Amino acid sequence: AASTDYQAEDAAISQGVVESNHAGYTGSGFVNYDNLAGSYVEVTAPAGPADVTLRYANGTAATRPMDITVNGQPGAVGITFPGTGAWTTWKTKTVRLQLVAGTNKIRARATSADGGPNADKLTV
Ligand code: GCU
Ligand code: CA
Ligand code: CA
Repeated sequence: AASTDYQAEDAAISQGVVESNHAGYTGSGFVNYDNLAGSYVEVTAPAGPADVTLRYANGTAATRPMDITVNGQPGAVGITFPGTGAWTTWKTKTVRLQLVAGTNKIRARATSADGGPNADKLTV
């Protein structure tokens, strides 16, 4: 089936801000996670292909791990988002999730004190 892009800047955001000061994003910007554990971006998707791709940038040398949950259940935990070399260099990370019939609230939640990487979009 065709995949759908969910722009992070249009998602439900907790402890993050929409910005556009680093080039290379798609849509109208990206989410700058606050630098703390627990900040998240959440999109709501129907059942479908279970591969979820997050497009991100991490201009630091430190990996920024996140947990991806589905409807509050652990989906893909401890996913690493290594440095991409610059805040303007965007890469993708794909995880496989078990999506359920009906709606799936897919949440990418930072688990380290550095917060998440900058998040451009999720493709489901
Ligand atoms: C810089 C950068 C932000 C980024 C932040 C961080 O401030 O401009 O886009 O989110 O670092 O370290 O998280
Ligand atoms: Ca940040
Ligand atoms: Ca975007």
